[in-house]
Amino acid sequence: MSLKPEDIYTHENSMKWELNESMPDFVARPLVLEIVKKYSSKDKSLLDVGCGTGRWTKKMAVDYESVVGIDSVKAMIDISKKLNPSDNITYSLVDMFELRALNKTFDVITALSVIQYSVDNVQLAGLIKQIFDSLNTGGHFVFWVPHPMLIMMNTSNWEKCKFEEGSSYFSNFPFTGKVRLTNGDWKNIGANFHSIQEYLNTLVNAGFKLVSFNEPSISKEFVEKYPDMEPDSRYPSFLVVDVVKE
Ligand SMILES: C[S@@+](CC[C@H](N)C(=O)[O-])C[C@H]1O[C@@H](n2cnc3c(N)ncnc32)[C@H](O)[C@@H]1O
Repeated sequence: MSLKPEDIYTHENSMKWELNESMPDFVARPLVLEIVKKYSSKDKSLLDVGCGTGRWTKKMAVDYESVVGIDSVKAMIDISKKLNPSDNITYSLVDMFELRALNKTFDVITALSVIQYSVDNVQLAGLIKQIFDSLNTGGHFVFWVPHPMLIMMNTSNWEKCKFEEGSSYFSNFPFTGKVRLTNGDWKNIGANFHSIQEYLNTLVNAGFKLVSFNEPSISKEFVEKYPDMEPDSRYPSFLVVDVVKE
């Protein structure tokens, strides 16, 4: 039932995403950008894990000296290099579960809707530990994931998720689904469920200290533009987290 990233992020699906906005572009991604700007300076480095099409990597790169964008899907790296190049960005085909192989450390690491691809808590813990080890002292890890409630509720007008009957909040389970783009079109998605306590405990166990934890919902402006999204505004859609390696 679980879809692999390379099955989802085909060239066609990725281009759809590159050329059309979707709901996180109005809430979760701008919030990460705002946080990351606070830590930027012209002598700092940033690693964007699961950079996708590079659209937000390029926005985040503006105030940094050097940026590396990695993704495990070739179609994504090809699109990033073609559509979102910049003198200070290097895009590379690298699996985040092999992050150590980069053999580099960074001042800031971001992951915008990516770490939910860890299949279970063991793989998530291994990934978070590698991210911790790849940060300089004082470095921040800033990420967002779809809110676990959004996935469990299964009623969203934006993200329609399917998972096996019997799946529970307390287990890791694969889900597949469709995300609505703002042009009304739909994009295939799929990832794995993790609870809030699992995300937080994994970060704490790796040695991170929590800086900020946000559960944004969709904005008023968004509901005004897309009134059928109103039911989604009653619960959070995203987890946006900033942690530091002290
Ligand atoms: C929802 S997309 C987000 C892309 C981008 N961060 C953004 O916000 O526009 C998830 C991305 O994670 C990538 N990904 C999934 N598993 C990965 C892995 N093991 N290593 C690196 N990238 C991965 C996918 O290929 C995809 O580009």
